[in-house]
Amino acid sequence: MRSRPRAVRTGRDGHSERARRASEFVISTNGGVSMEEAETRTLFERVGGTAGVERIVEAFYERVEGDLPLRKIYPDDLEPGKAKLKLYLEQWLGGEPRYSELYGHPRLRMRHLPFAIGEHAAGRWLRHMRAAMQASGVGEAEERVIFAQLAPLAHHMVNRHDEGAH
Ligand code: HEM
Repeated sequence: MRSRPRAVRTGRDGHSERARRASEFVISTNGGVSMEEAETRTLFERVGGTAGVERIVEAFYERVEGDLPLRKIYPDDLEPGKAKLKLYLEQWLGGEPRYSELYGHPRLRMRHLPFAIGEHAAGRWLRHMRAAMQASGVGEAEERVIFAQLAPLAHHMVNRHDEGAH
């Protein structure tokens, strides 16, 4: 039996309250959204498990490849990042914590610092992820809960505020 690491929250480095509330380790399933009481499955199960996450990430990366300003931020080889995002989302949505078993605590903001991410990029990233989820058959209720927490998490990754930033 695997022992599951406890949820760890971001925010020790003095970022906004909204960002602090966005857990990067695992999504909080009540998410402040009511009418979820009867649902006992994890969001990971509700989006279709490993196959569902794979569909989402493939659809997301297709969109990144077609979005020049966003594509420029990513390295030439997209495959390693794609594989990591699959493991990460599986864990974040309440599946097995395989990302952390391989790479340790997500420390997402720190891991994104080498890449220049402005507000526009965060907006485009979120738009593509929403379209990818819709194209992958994620239900409206699941999408609502997920984006209530994914949006602050994406804005938490913004690390460039100069005018030239994408
Ligand atoms: C705000 C816009 C974002 C941009 C522009 C962005 C961009 C990137 C880039 C360029 C990489 C490096 C890929 C590589 O090394 O091949 C990366 C890695 C990653 N991103 Fe993002 N990202 C964003 C938001 C997010 C969000 C919201 C999440 C969480 C759901 C996330 C999860 C990850 C993960 C798990 C990795 C791999 C980290 C590692 O272990 O090295 N990213 N991202």
